[in-house]
Amino acid sequence: MPRYAHIIGWGKSVPPNILTNADLAKKVDTTDEWIRERTGIQQRHIASSKETTALLALHAARDAVEVADVNPQDIDLVIVATATPEYPFPATACLVQNALGAERAGAFDLEAGCSGFVYALATATALIRSEMYNTVLVVGAETLSRILDWSDRATCVLFGDGAGAVLLRGSDQPGGVLSTILGSDGSGGELLMVPGGGSKHPAGPDTVLSKQHFVKMNGREVYRFATRVMAQASRQAVDKAGWQLEQIDLFLPHQANVRIIDSAAKSLKIPPDKVFVNLERYGNTSAASIPIALCEALDAGKIKTGNNLVMVGFGAGLTWASCAIKWTAAQPGAPAPQRAAASRLRYIWSGIKSFGFQLSRHIDAAVSKTLDVIERKPSDE
Ligand code: UT7
Repeated sequence: MPRYAHIIGWGKSVPPNILTNADLAKKVDTTDEWIRERTGIQQRHIASSKETTALLALHAARDAVEVADVNPQDIDLVIVATATPEYPFPATACLVQNALGAERAGAFDLEAGCSGFVYALATATALIRSEMYNTVLVVGAETLSRILDWSDRATCVLFGDGAGAVLLRGSDQPGGVLSTILGSDGSGGELLMVPGGGSKHPAGPDTVLSKQHFVKMNGREVYRFATRVMAQASRQAVDKAGWQLEQIDLFLPHQANVRIIDSAAKSLKIPPDKVFVNLERYGNTSAASIPIALCEALDAGKIKTGNNLVMVGFGAGLTWASCAIKWTAAQPGAPAPQRAAASRLRYIWSGIKSFGFQLSRHIDAAVSKTLDVIERKPSDE
């Protein structure tokens, strides 16, 4: 019996602080008109120093778990797609797994630039279809604002912060993620990169002074690449699912530039009312853009049970990724107050437990250090 991977929960989290184009025009040599005309972006959300990638990811994940009404203990795996992790290591996914109380779950980060969410969705789907796992949490989370050069008008106007998450579960019921396409052309890696901080240019005073920890991009070339692969990858996912393009009910593209989205939709002959766009309010949130768009499309009532969705992303790597989804979830009702209270208690309890584990590790270490000293004493004398 074939297994299918269904999305059963979803959630998003964006920091409340908004930076408008007018605000940006006060910092760099740009105008609201230029940004709107060339990108479609009007504003973006920017995280405060306390709102880190893991925190945004956790909030989106909790919402997804809530919507699915699943106990975090039932989650088998947590994947966080991000280009702006909390630390080089441990993985942001491990922090989310711990804070969520997903005690049985494995966890890892996945880096595929702005295509990361669809890459992670494809990975989760494959693991569910192979029956290795049954319940997988996929998060796309970014704090791009941390790695932007705020004096570079060619990049700082484009990006924003946020997170989106979905919970997938295996079932024999046909539907869910029906096809996935993943692509890469590493020959274009230098077109969009953060050159510093890795093994090639380890962090040091010189890398900081030469601004190598910031996003560097050849926008024009990335634009050309994006307009080519978006339509192509979408077509491939649709073919692989056995659909015709006319059967797409909603197109959910990576939210980077409205001109790129329009060009892909035109090439696929998808009418504007079937294309979801929210980049005017968020800018490009990289791996978070598609799951945030999914949540907003659901909130706007644009997705109904049985609808055919296509998601497609492109980004650093260069990478691209697409998928075709037969939407099977029903809109959840408002959570019962008792359920919300139970979840809160569960999170508090898992926080206490996690703190307890840390404390016992410290006590263990202190005790074994003391014992070492005592045992060594006679020979030292
Ligand atoms: O998720 C993947 C992330 N990357 C992307 O999605 C980027 C894809 N590329 C793009 O979206 C577009 O290429 C941009 C929005 C980045 C740029 O639009 P464009 O129409 O390709 O503009 P351009 O790079 O060809 O620049 C046109 C002019 C240049 O001036 P000159 O050389 O013609 O005098 C730029 O210096 O616009 C200038 N410019 C700006 N002017 C005002 C570049 N950025 C700005 C700015 N404000 N923020």
